[in-house]
Amino acid sequence: MNKKTVFSGVQPSGNLTIGNYLGAIKNFSRLQDEYNSIYSIVDMHSITVPQVPSELRKRTYEVLALYLATGLDPEKSTIFVQSHVSAHAELCWVLNSISYMGQLNRMTQYKDKSSKSEENLNAALFTYPVLMAADILLYQTDFVPVGEDQRQHLELARDLAIRFNSKYSDTFKVPDNLIQKETGKIYNLKNPELKMSKSDPDANSYILMLDDKDTIVRKVKRAVTDSLANFNYSKEQKGLQNLINIYSAFSGEDVKNIVNKYRNENYSVFKEDLGILIAEALKPIQNEYDKLMSDKGYLESIMKEGAEKARYLSYKTLRKVYKKVGFVQI
Ligand code: AMP
Ligand code: TRP
Repeated sequence: MNKKTVFSGVQPSGNLTIGNYLGAIKNFSRLQDEYNSIYSIVDMHSITVPQVPSELRKRTYEVLALYLATGLDPEKSTIFVQSHVSAHAELCWVLNSISYMGQLNRMTQYKDKSSKSEENLNAALFTYPVLMAADILLYQTDFVPVGEDQRQHLELARDLAIRFNSKYSDTFKVPDNLIQKETGKIYNLKNPELKMSKSDPDANSYILMLDDKDTIVRKVKRAVTDSLANFNYSKEQKGLQNLINIYSAFSGEDVKNIVNKYRNENYSVFKEDLGILIAEALKPIQNEYDKLMSDKGYLESIMKEGAEKARYLSYKTLRKVYKKVGFVQI
């Protein structure tokens, strides 16, 4: 009965990569037995950069189908779409009132995204991390499984919880992150200094969860490594290190074993095996995804059920917040 709570969210913008999978989504289903788990498709975060409405709508179904195809069970987890639960926008507004502009200005994701184009310079992008804090704090979350790139946003959520609690009395749990050491940051296949990102203009720099076998094998083959001809796991060989991490995550094998296995081989042998390994691991997920996507009615029923559960939980917190800040209760 006294299970701890995990919460996480994925934006329905763009196709999901194996970075999203290994850094976040793969862990979601693993956590659902031990924790009270809540997973959202955060469409309100997506509109902080320009979206084509019909695409956004389609991708919302797609992320839900991928959640389910990777093993999330609506009987065990609360799975919902953020815009279906208005408490998120409502708490965001209250948290905005205790958020410092200076701190939001220092968020690296904001700096990156706002510098990319004028069109991106909107107020929602600026308060994006505050909405994320609202997502997390509404559910009295203990742990947030995310990739490394969300660490700073999570710090902000903690700061806001602590600030609110000390200003108005204890209201929110202060959440901790759950970032995977080896897979918290999967790197770009073409430039292992950068993270793998679905918004990269070069499609060879990432592998999508829905890429077919030939595409995956080809992309891995072309991944940048080094010319040392020494199969080793080291920071000096970042490209190879990234591929070994991916191999380990998909096979469950230790890095040490992998290095021993391929020590005397050409990199190309390892790459060939890795491509096939990834494709085979993703195949059952892709099959299940295809089945789910052909049944929109079922996906909508999951959304409805999830929204009801999430509304109930989130309003418990929101009511307390409204009372504490001095809003009249009727
Ligand atoms: P997003 O697609 O930005 O909503 O991200 C969904 C989740 O995937 C978040 O928890 C991110 O931190 C995680 N993520 C995104 N890119 C990567 C990556 N290259 N490596 C590991 N995790 C990632
Ligand atoms: N900002 C996260 C990302 O881009 C998505 C997100 C929104 C999230 N709200 C969240 C993740 C709450 C964890 C918890 O990846």
